[in-house]
Amino acid sequence: MRQIINFNLDWKYSNQNHQNFQNPTFDDSCFDDVYLPHTNKELPLHYFSDTEFCFISNYRKKVVIKKEVGKTYHLVFEGISNYAELYVNGKFVNSHKCAYTNFECDITAFIVDGKNVIAVLVDSNERPDVPPFGGVVDYLCYGGIYRDVNLIVTSNDYIKDVYAFSTDVVDKDLHVEISLTGRDQEVEVKIEKDGRTYGKQKAISNNGKAKIVFSELHVELWDVDNPTLYDIIVRTNGDQKSIKYGFRSAKFTNDGFYLNGKRLQLMGLNRHQSFPYVGYAMPRNAQYEDADILKYELGVNIVRSSHYPPSKHFIDRCDEIGLLVFEEIPGWNHIGDEAWKDQSLKNVHDMIMRDRNHPSVILWGVRINESDDDHDFYTKTNALARSLDYRQTAGVRWKPHSEFLEDVFAINDFVPLYEEPPLREPRMETGLDHDVPYLVTEYMGHMFPTKINDQEARLVRHAERHAQIQNFAHSIKNISGAIGWCAFDYNTHRHFGTNDKICYHGVMDIFRNPKYASYVYLSQKNPQEGVVFEPATIWAFGEKDIGGVLPLFVYTNVDKLTMVFEGRDPIDYYPDKANYPYLPHPPIIIKEMPEVWGSTWKDVVFYGYINNKLVATRAYSSNPIPSRLSLQIKTKQPRLFDSIRIKVSALDERDNVMKFYSEPIKINVNGARLVGPSTVSLSGGMYSIWVIAEQKHISVSVESERLSLQTVEIDL
Ligand code: GAL
Repeated sequence: MRQIINFNLDWKYSNQNHQNFQNPTFDDSCFDDVYLPHTNKELPLHYFSDTEFCFISNYRKKVVIKKEVGKTYHLVFEGISNYAELYVNGKFVNSHKCAYTNFECDITAFIVDGKNVIAVLVDSNERPDVPPFGGVVDYLCYGGIYRDVNLIVTSNDYIKDVYAFSTDVVDKDLHVEISLTGRDQEVEVKIEKDGRTYGKQKAISNNGKAKIVFSELHVELWDVDNPTLYDIIVRTNGDQKSIKYGFRSAKFTNDGFYLNGKRLQLMGLNRHQSFPYVGYAMPRNAQYEDADILKYELGVNIVRSSHYPPSKHFIDRCDEIGLLVFEEIPGWNHIGDEAWKDQSLKNVHDMIMRDRNHPSVILWGVRINESDDDHDFYTKTNALARSLDYRQTAGVRWKPHSEFLEDVFAINDFVPLYEEPPLREPRMETGLDHDVPYLVTEYMGHMFPTKINDQEARLVRHAERHAQIQNFAHSIKNISGAIGWCAFDYNTHRHFGTNDKICYHGVMDIFRNPKYASYVYLSQKNPQEGVVFEPATIWAFGEKDIGGVLPLFVYTNVDKLTMVFEGRDPIDYYPDKANYPYLPHPPIIIKEMPEVWGSTWKDVVFYGYINNKLVATRAYSSNPIPSRLSLQIKTKQPRLFDSIRIKVSALDERDNVMKFYSEPIKINVNGARLVGPSTVSLSGGMYSIWVIAEQKHISVSVESERLSLQTVEIDL
């Protein structure tokens, strides 16, 4: 039976390119001991050169493999940035030119029974022959073997691929197409969940292909609120392969997007897969947690994996929690020569073949983000996508009236802040005299960059514009949805962002801590799933121009707010349905309050009600005093050699984050590797510590000059 052996540990690494490093007898004693995911260069948080990680490096791994007759050995690298050459026992096996797709090699002929040496040359230069490079790019692709590596051992008769899809969710059918090596043989397909079988059929393969169709299955549908997954287990005499599957239909139409036949307004954010200090090299838990943040801390129903296929862990988690994904090929504005386009076509192929069984993926992006028209190239990318999968295609453009070869017209709609309406009418953008399936794939971003510790008024305006855009997107049936730029701040090249190499475009900062705009999204959720009650204020008289806290936006899903300003009568406020009629939960905006100029600044308490029942309270001190550091373990399932995130907040005596508290904190870690430096400044009164667990007991302590030591202990 199939064996999957993780190859993440025990690598040797050198940040130089050594002659003969592939040679099994090469002396690698000067190399560092590392494990994967690995970045070729740890970077500061910001202010670094955007070429620091652009070099060729060498990785080596000595490994004992039990080589048996009749078995096939596949080595799968899930992500190497940007170009890789694989050598086994001194012999060249193959090369790979994409940082985001699987580099998979059959190494059977190269290995011996016993000790083997695997050597990888990693070129992290921004090579113009590797998409997205050739022009400028507004993000970094970093370097190194930055995702997992596995050795897959099968018998020589093995299952190459399983492809499952449903054509009719009313009938609840399932088509399973299997490709196999070797002779014609019996193939069994079973549908299971929690030990119960929902269907089982057998077929005999013919020329390496088998096809099985189920109908009228008694299964539950997969959707965003109830993401039911089934195991589809394919078995032959010598092999077994299973996939997770969700029964669902997903369709973009002229009247918006339909999931299982019901219209669903898509509200989403773009995500870059980068993290502070280590760039892309973050293991499974960090990928899971980004999906969780999008779903549970941002409340969106779709993410665009701008501008490349994300980690398989990220998509697995999207399947599990019911977060829809728009996945696209690597690229940013630039289209290269014919060889570059061929590579891009290969990327379309590799992306779809890797991810076409995921229920969360609802759309393939087969156009280089924001590139010019290229009729022949995009005719080919669309045709290829359609030949591999049933899903619709989209191509993200910024130019209105550009050639529409895809199924969904996707556009980045950057309307300046002073222009209304905040998005353009679909027909203005398509240039067509009729409706087509239409999706807004970016807005805001560079139109209004905002730092987590910016002046309150800017953070408030940032949030307000996000709310206005979503309100508008919800108002037009032909707009399937709008996906904002972007979820998290990210490191970038010198040509973008502020000159510290960060694009401050996120509704959260680079540490995944919230700016006010994040609450615009979160507050749209049904209060039954959780009450959201977030006043966008630090409650200070002198922070805003001219003074005072008005207008004070409260992003919330309650239906009434009562403000009690110390010593005054309570005042009630209600959701602003007049200005935000289309948002499920308009913000409550306090535009007037008792005159305070020249008198003493007082404490305030906000009470939130649903159907006159008190459901939330937020109290602010007019005289906040640093009270404690809070450490919150965000990781649900800590594992060895995986990441754990600990959120740090500096709180006042009312448990409010002190947004301008930027005093340094000292971090002390036992049993794990700290990602980034051990003395850091808080930003927006917050920080995130990531550690990589190296032992079964871990302790993390944090202290600052004025806030006493706090410790968390984690047992794996
Ligand atoms: C878009 C681009 C994104 C990002 C964004 C910033 O044009 O597609 O990658 O650069 O601008 O607002």
